[in-house]
Amino acid sequence: MSKKVARVRDIEMAYEDAGRGEPFVLLHGFPFNRSMWREQAQALAETCRVVVPDLRGFGETSLGETKGAATMEEMAADVAALLDELNVGRAVVGGLSMGGYVALAFCRAFPGRVRALVLADTRALPDTDDARRAREENARRALSEGMAPIADAMMPKLLSGETLANRPETVARVREMILAAKPEGVAAALRGMARRRDQTDLLEEIEAPTLIVVGREDTFSTPSEAEGMRGKIRGARLSVVEGAGHLSNVERPEEFSRALVDFLRGLPS
Ligand code: MLT
Repeated sequence: MSKKVARVRDIEMAYEDAGRGEPFVLLHGFPFNRSMWREQAQALAETCRVVVPDLRGFGETSLGETKGAATMEEMAADVAALLDELNVGRAVVGGLSMGGYVALAFCRAFPGRVRALVLADTRALPDTDDARRAREENARRALSEGMAPIADAMMPKLLSGETLANRPETVARVREMILAAKPEGVAAALRGMARRRDQTDLLEEIEAPTLIVVGREDTFSTPSEAEGMRGKIRGARLSVVEGAGHLSNVERPEEFSRALVDFLRGLPS
């Protein structure tokens, strides 16, 4: 798929746009970029129109005028503006982890534009005070020391034991994505995630058909948290990806893509 760039709000937003039919937007996690959706974008482009942006400050998208925190609301507004640019009114909106926080912020701000929702390896709860402090430390570390210490700290927690032991290409791909992230964008997103609101009350109001996906070994956003969200969103389905940790779509691309395609095919017309 080829890269496109749109001027939206105060940023130059890089994205890919492939396939035809029902629009499906995929929002990446932290501190990654649109390439984490490579396999899903390929699989979905056979059945729908798939739009995959780099979020503000990540990949090839600029940070714009953001000073300090890039909030989830700001990123959701960027996505809405990109959809405007593409003449897309409603879309299936899917996000993994930070992308899921952005998807929830999008649902709150633009409920009428959500045709269906996919929440992968994410949560509705805000950060604890300890987590906020750790984010600020990491933001400062990224700005002063670059991405290597962030990669070292994150890698063992992101992937399942099986992926770490037996899938060296996946481990290398994930590490390279982290190392390629821009420290300014990373710091802004860390500060934005630290400020994110509790979205628990939103879950009961979601009317869009919803799929929740989680890696069986995700320790960041656990299967039991995913089950909790499933219980709050009317009619939501839960798909647990065996053998995967937090990056379930990268660790088990085929299983994850199949879950998305099945969900899409089962949507009421
Ligand atoms: C992610 O994968 O996007 C992050 O783990 C989210 C977070 O740090 O809360």
